[in-house]
Amino acid sequence: MMSITKKILILTACIVVTVSPGFAAGPPAHAVASAHPLATAAGVEILQQGGNAFDAAIAVSAALGVVEPYSSGFGGGGFWLVHRAGDGKQVMIDARETAPGLAHARMYRDAQDNVIKDASLKGPLAAGIPGLPAGLVHLAEHYGRLPLGQSLAPAKRYAEQGFEVSSRYHQLAGFVAGSLRQNPAAAEIFLQDGRPPRIGYLVRQQELAATIDAIAKQGRDGFYRGPVAETMVRESRKYGGVWSLKDLEAYRVVEREPIVTHYRGAKIVSAPPPSSGGIVMAQALQILETFDLDGMSNVQRKHHIIEAMRRAFRDRAVFLGDPDFVDVPVARLLDRSYLEGLALTVDPSKATPSDVIGGGPALQQTGTQTTHFSVMDREGNRVAGTLSVNTLFGACFVAAGTGVLFNNEMDDFSIKPFTPNAYGLIGNEANAIAPGKRPLSSMTPTFLELPDRVGIVGTPGGSRIISMVLLAALDFVDGRLPESWVALRRFHHQYEPDQVQFELHGLTEFEQQRLAGLGHELREISRRYGNMQAILWDKTENRVHSASDPRGEGLAVVVPAEAGTQ
Ligand code: DON
Repeated sequence: MMSITKKILILTACIVVTVSPGFAAGPPAHAVASAHPLATAAGVEILQQGGNAFDAAIAVSAALGVVEPYSSGFGGGGFWLVHRAGDGKQVMIDARETAPGLAHARMYRDAQDNVIKDASLKGPLAAGIPGLPAGLVHLAEHYGRLPLGQSLAPAKRYAEQGFEVSSRYHQLAGFVAGSLRQNPAAAEIFLQDGRPPRIGYLVRQQELAATIDAIAKQGRDGFYRGPVAETMVRESRKYGGVWSLKDLEAYRVVEREPIVTHYRGAKIVSAPPPSSGGIVMAQALQILETFDLDGMSNVQRKHHIIEAMRRAFRDRAVFLGDPDFVDVPVARLLDRSYLEGLALTVDPSKATPSDVIGGGPALQQTGTQTTHFSVMDREGNRVAGTLSVNTLFGACFVAAGTGVLFNNEMDDFSIKPFTPNAYGLIGNEANAIAPGKRPLSSMTPTFLELPDRVGIVGTPGGSRIISMVLLAALDFVDGRLPESWVALRRFHHQYEPDQVQFELHGLTEFEQQRLAGLGHELREISRRYGNMQAILWDKTENRVHSASDPRGEGLAVVVPAEAGTQ
């Protein structure tokens, strides 16, 4: 498998491909951008075997679940935003985790109604019922061209033969080694003698390979029924979890209509509830469209973007949750006159304190987990996939005998009204826990479309996902390329806490002084954040561009037809 990676690395040299000038029917090349070179290699391998973008998405998703266990996996879930070239169908495949049947609104609070520390973050009680395996099966059955087993083959191989620990893996495992040590099955697989493995150490996951094989051979039943399901339920119960066989059997993928918004001639297609991403971004863009951003100074522009984020995140906290359980007033939230009204409340000369527009307390957190990939094939099929086990290595719990690392996505619920979660996000009843319900997400897989250009983008980063994708969308509309979107200096506001968060060096000294002068509280995060993976097809030039975030270890490739693709 290392040789595939090397081959791919050579391909990156030709990151821009031009075939013929003029307006093309389909892109001149395949493209894959993911957070790990082996996952990108898996996607290219499947495309080269005649698979379409959906088969490649299965291969990349499954591979990421093996080689980036700190970010996503078979015990997690995610969203795939899909564009099918043949009929133009656009849909979001929602494979988000669901709360188990025994879950209830107060399950992470004690008798005094205090939140029990770490209960929604560590161990099997923190885990929702996984959606990823069902999502992979759904993609293969409804969109792919190859048998599921073929698309899963690279991931199975990586699990069997192992992958090398990178410096990123080493560092991230270091952050949670203490928690991984609490669970012998997790420690055995992901640590080396109880410590973060040395760089170059081979992580082998034989049990996970067998689980992948069961999914390859039996589809849903390989995971949601039979021995794998029974073992997961038994292990969950043994360590304080509440999963049941019925929960696993009942899990269903849902196809949802994306959120579509228009901003200065561009069509932005993004994730609907149970993600907050599409709505928050659409609201922010609609607010921003009422301003002349181009005519503003750099600081004024940032001030207005921050104020738009603040207002959109307020509505997230109040209104958003799983649409199968609560009535999310999507039309009202995206109503133009409502958003124009919100825009009128922005004061160009000073920050609006969040408590003036309603609120609650919050704290903040960092995060480099979760993962995103973008894929496009030569027919023009596209997938933007954002996948997660929530925080690093999810619940830090493996169901022994299955190799499945459990997520801790339950923490994305509002575990107590207006009590912040791991990302400092607050919520209320709309996002309260209920059996079978999906926790509100910030994952924002997105298509950016202009008549002559199409972009595919997304990133991990908890609540900051939305502001990162928003900044990328603005950059896209300004005519810049994916290399620019992924490298943008990032800043963020999420209503509560009432502060402008920015990554290390994300704002210049001058910008900081001026924004502080407008009344913004500023907080520099001690590192850079996000791991954006992006693709652009420029139809006028008929060129495909692809870029991987310089902050991560990902790999973006463009594979021209000459490189042996069909
Ligand atoms: O669904 C969500 O919004 C979160 N579980 C995503 C977590 C994430 O992006 C972590 N990355 N830093």
